[in-house]
Order: sequence, then C-alpha cells, then structure tokens
Amino acid sequence: MPHLLAPSLLSADFAELRKAVELIEESEAAWHHIDVMDGVFVPNISFGLPVIKSIRKHAKKPFDVHLMIVRPDQYINAFRDAGADHLTVHLEACPHLHRSIQAIKSAGMKAGVAINPHSPALLLEEVFADIDLVCVMSVNPGFGGQKFIERTFEKIAALKAMRSRSGSSALIEIDGGVGPDNASKIAAAGADVLVAGNSVFGADDPKAAIARLASS
Ligand code: DX5
Ligand code: ZN
Repeated sequence: MPHLLAPSLLSADFAELRKAVELIEESEAAWHHIDVMDGVFVPNISFGLPVIKSIRKHAKKPFDVHLMIVRPDQYINAFRDAGADHLTVHLEACPHLHRSIQAIKSAGMKAGVAINPHSPALLLEEVFADIDLVCVMSVNPGFGGQKFIERTFEKIAALKAMRSRSGSSALIEIDGGVGPDNASKIAAAGADVLVAGNSVFGADDPKAAIARLASS
C-alpha cells in the first residue's frame, strides 16, 4: 500500500490556520494531523477543542487528532464533537489503555495509540488487535522541527511483526522529523502514514512539499 501523508498543523502559522487547512484540502495529503498539547504531559501548549471545532468547518479530509495530554479519557466525547475522526492517546498517559481504546471506538472514532521513543513496541502487544492506528513518536513529543530518532526503524519492524501475529490491520504512523531526506526510507521500512510538520509548513512551497513527501 502506498503511504498516506498527514501534514501537522502545529507548524502552520496559527494566525492563518484556515489557509493552512485549505492548503491541505487542495493538496495530495490524506489527513490533517492535529497536535493537542497540555503543558503537563509535554512541555508545550498548542491548541484545543474550540480551535479544532472552528477549522473543522473548512475541511473534508479526516482529522487525525493526536492528544499529548494527561487524562485524555475525560475529553473523548468532546473531541468527537469538535470533529475528530481518529483520536490518538498516549500509552504513557493512559493507566487503563484498554478502556480508553474502547471508549474512543464507542464514541464512533478510529482509535490510535501513540508511543514515546523510550516505550518498547512490545507494550502494545495486548491491545494491538483492538486499535486502528499506532503513532510511533520518532522524536520526543512537544515540539515540531526536531531530529528523527534512527532507532525508530527497529520499532517499525517490531510493529510489523506484531501486526502479522495479531491479525490486526492497524496502520503504522510515524510522527516527528520526517522530511524529504528520510521519507522514502521510512515508507519503505513499512510506515503507512507519515506525519510532517516543519518539512511542509517550513518549505517555500508547502503544497509542492506535500506532493513530494506523498510520493516519496
Ligand atoms: C510533535 C508532534 C508532531 C510534530 C511533528 O510532538 O506530535 O506531530 O508536529 O513535527 P515535525 O514534522 O516538524 O517534526
Ligand atoms: Zn503529532
């Protein structure tokens, strides 16, 4: 399967968020990747529910919402109502991960689980068959524009093996430090979805950058 590209709005100019959403809509990107940070789980604060609700009106493509927040369970329905299609929670933020996954699915969304660079893929073994998406953090979450962590390649291989074992069809998404220099290698390693923030919105021509990353 060719990979999907999900530009991250975190690197867009927030004063022009609507334009960034429209640019993604007109581009070869598959999804909007939307990073929600609370300043507790990660050392940065981005944006939240009202912003997502406002930009949803200008988009048709799926909203892939990545929650970098503590206690995400209490906001699951609110993110669904704001327009999330996929809701990804962090393994490290969910002491009852199985319950969180079921709650996301019961709310009618695709369920994703993100894992930080220090978390082994093996920690997903017991829930892999239940999820729609694994978001592999290839940087420490919190900021755009960081350097890709090379050990991620081993994690992709481990997740692919786990996926075959479990009979799951979960997509493997790589988030952080993806750009023109490594996108084709990451896709060839087995990533189904590439998230790209800085390499899209930091480019002179973001639409051309999306086209390049989507076909690499
Ligand atoms: C990081 C976020 C990423 C971020 C990626 O915490 O989860 O989605 O926007 O940004 P780049 O592509 O610039 O590394
Ligand atoms: Zn993200």
